[in-house]
Amino acid sequence: MSRLRLGINVDHVATLRQARGTAYPDPVEAALLCAGAGADSITIHLREDRRHIQPDDVRRLQKRSPVPVNLEMAVTDEMVAFACRVKPRYACLVPEKREELTTEGGLDVASLQASVAVACRRLQKAGIEVSLFIDPSPAQLKAALAVGVPHLEIHTGRYADTRGRQRDAELKRIVAFAAAAADAGFEVHAGHGLTCDNVGSIASIRQIVELNIGHSIIARAVFVGLPAAVAEMRQAMTAARGA
Ligand code: PXP
Repeated sequence: MSRLRLGINVDHVATLRQARGTAYPDPVEAALLCAGAGADSITIHLREDRRHIQPDDVRRLQKRSPVPVNLEMAVTDEMVAFACRVKPRYACLVPEKREELTTEGGLDVASLQASVAVACRRLQKAGIEVSLFIDPSPAQLKAALAVGVPHLEIHTGRYADTRGRQRDAELKRIVAFAAAAADAGFEVHAGHGLTCDNVGSIASIRQIVELNIGHSIIARAVFVGLPAAVAEMRQAMTAARGA
């Protein structure tokens, strides 16, 4: 099986900084540590309400990161213009609501096809590889095909949040979606709510080539440090993947 890449989301290092309005801890410094510990890319989400990552964090990360930067962003003119100026290697389009705790549900590409397509064209013209963060549904896959992007990221939040039969059903949906998306020519990524305990079933889906994981790694790092937390996740992924 192909090697599974690990993208680490450092948003919650910035959450801790913003809680006190201090200059520390610095998400860019965390990103450098993650890269040193084997992260294949760094993900950050510049939200409209700027609750954690700030525009300057993105600019500093893009300058200093030794691994590719993946900017999660809403489909707005402001964000598209910002991304086109900063030029991260990847942009992942996500839905955004001010009141949500985190990204709840995937981007509804099926309903927003025209505006998503315009945003993707602008980003791709700037040389940015675009990914759409979507729920594993046939309708979203069809719409994503019409938009024309190289990557899809499967929202694994429902898988992570459910148990028992519901989780089994969600996993089935993800397995079927990953196969269909890869057949359709997409590079398939996944993320949201993944932990060392639940990552195995997702990591063993051979069509998935990248996982983006944040909250559980940053939380674990409070106890064991970032390099060890990254290593633990890598170990859990490798054990499931068998490669
Ligand atoms: N992928 C996407 C598109 C996300 O929006 C998020 C959350 O910011 C993640 C991955 C990481 O999710 P978590 O922090 O739950 O690991």
